[in-house]
Amino acid sequence: MSLKKLTLTFALLLLLGVSVSAAQEELPSLRDLADANDVYIGAAVYVAHLSNPGHEEVLAREFNMLTPENEAKMCELQPTRGRFDFTRLDRLVEFAEANDMIVRGHTLLWHQCMPSWVANGDFSREEAIEIMRDHIYTVVGRYKGRIPMWDVVNEAIDDSLGIRETPWYNFIGEDYIELAFQFAHEADPDALLFYNDYGAEGMNPKANVIYDMVADFVERGVPIHGVGLQTHIELNRTDPGQYVSPSNFGQNIQRLGDLGLEVHITEVDVRYNGDTTDEILQEQAADYYRLMQTCLEHDACTTFVTWGVSDNFSWLRDGVLGNPPDVQPLLFTGDYEPKPAYFAVLDALARAAGMEPILTDEEVATLLDVEIVEPEVVELPEPTKSDPAQLAPDSVEGLAYYAPFPVSITLDGDLADWENIPTVTLGDTSEGANTESVTFATAADGEYLYFMADVRDPHIIAGFNDPVGGWYMEDSVEFYLNATGDPTLTSYETGVAQIGLMAANIDSPDELMVGGGNSMDSDVDLVAVETENGYRVEAAVPLVNDAWTIEPDHLAEIGYQVHLNGASAPDASQSTKLIWSAADTQDQSWQNPSVFGRLIFWDTSQ
Ligand code: XIL
Repeated sequence: MSLKKLTLTFALLLLLGVSVSAAQEELPSLRDLADANDVYIGAAVYVAHLSNPGHEEVLAREFNMLTPENEAKMCELQPTRGRFDFTRLDRLVEFAEANDMIVRGHTLLWHQCMPSWVANGDFSREEAIEIMRDHIYTVVGRYKGRIPMWDVVNEAIDDSLGIRETPWYNFIGEDYIELAFQFAHEADPDALLFYNDYGAEGMNPKANVIYDMVADFVERGVPIHGVGLQTHIELNRTDPGQYVSPSNFGQNIQRLGDLGLEVHITEVDVRYNGDTTDEILQEQAADYYRLMQTCLEHDACTTFVTWGVSDNFSWLRDGVLGNPPDVQPLLFTGDYEPKPAYFAVLDALARAAGMEPILTDEEVATLLDVEIVEPEVVELPEPTKSDPAQLAPDSVEGLAYYAPFPVSITLDGDLADWENIPTVTLGDTSEGANTESVTFATAADGEYLYFMADVRDPHIIAGFNDPVGGWYMEDSVEFYLNATGDPTLTSYETGVAQIGLMAANIDSPDELMVGGGNSMDSDVDLVAVETENGYRVEAAVPLVNDAWTIEPDHLAEIGYQVHLNGASAPDASQSTKLIWSAADTQDQSWQNPSVFGRLIFWDTSQ
């Protein structure tokens, strides 16, 4: 491949269904677009691979960051006590400097690649601390100003969620982790220091343990600046410990960011079992797309590194993690041709920077398997009231809900103050039906937007899940708003919220059990009560808060959506899923507000 910028090849065009006009245009590189987003895009580099024709060229053209794949690990740098060998790491740092790339130091302490003199040694706590300090001072100190960020400790939490019993742990004790951060900070007070681990990308138990550990560090002033999420993922894996969904991944990034930490996506590759087919490569591209898009949606996420450059040299090729020997988990083929995943990442970067997209909206929709909703506003029938006493017109099925104002509501679980407010019912409400159904309504006064859901539920399943990660897996009502004024938005931003009101609030009136995208910004208040045949929630969100300003003028509109999640048993989540907005045919409201319906305010004096 020549040094000139990439153009799409015809084979890829066919694969992607990309329009021919795009093929003739010169495309920006990953690093061009990463710069435009003010983020780093990196690749792990093994010094031995640099000499492979094409490797250096693609690295320099596409990436503005590199991570030494092995060269900065302890067994490489200090194979014998006190004898450091910096040859290979120097080579990588020089290559990076020559090509205007930043180096992400990886990693000072890890249970693998430990020199045998440490692993098999017998040291007192003091001796081990001395060895650790000396290693960290020497390495971080040598590259001060040249390697501006380090994974200080790698993979310190084991799969049973305790601190891994590494030699460091055995010699020193649990505080070896914070001591390492302390020493790295002393060696280079300007370096950004990270804790890095795998299997903690989404909201899962391991991620929670890491969150608690780093939150404690932050609180006690241990010098930590970020968390690295390795993100070695496998297609279609949804078990805990694996990356689960963008919202889940986004929530984890968000909460770490809320601690004031940076989040780096440090070692991405997307593996799979079986043969490499066009379909697999498309699914892989979709995963890469979602990862990059989710990272870019969060200010805290500033770096995205793939664990290698071309498929031929992936560490997974060695049968690691039980992969097929010819697995192709990266962005470039063995011949350094860009893969569908490359164009996916490129497009996510281009769109986030507000630049010319690389793929068309249709191509993205196909890739991500979401439906494109026509942005044009559907004509509504003349508003009518089937009952003259009604405070607002009848809703239009699956499309529009008329919310009366001003109506004052008290959050007390009693329906008296909801009288004459139009309701919508979803689900089978016939006598004897043994499934969940929901009747909901919305109204406003001068200060709040109120929401009520009366749920018929023969078996309330509540209190089994953590609100942050698992609220939708048990009985809950979701009430969504898009108050940005843009009904065509296809992803969440400030002003859009998914507010998951859990039935678990019945038993926990003092601690609100709420989940969902941006729900924390909504300042929601609620009351949940058990009823004769199920449960009821009443909720209120302020019309004005940090996330939005909603003005209930006559016929003014916001985006609105309602879902019901009905679990029939603790392990049978969403055995009922009811969705109000007709545009949301694929349960996409959690990530795509363009499939919401419309809430239209109705002045009761009309
Ligand atoms: C891997 C390298 O890619 C291999 O070449 C080496 O043999 C073992 O280490 N998590 C990490 C990385 O943090 O350092 C590992 O890198 C992959 C898993």
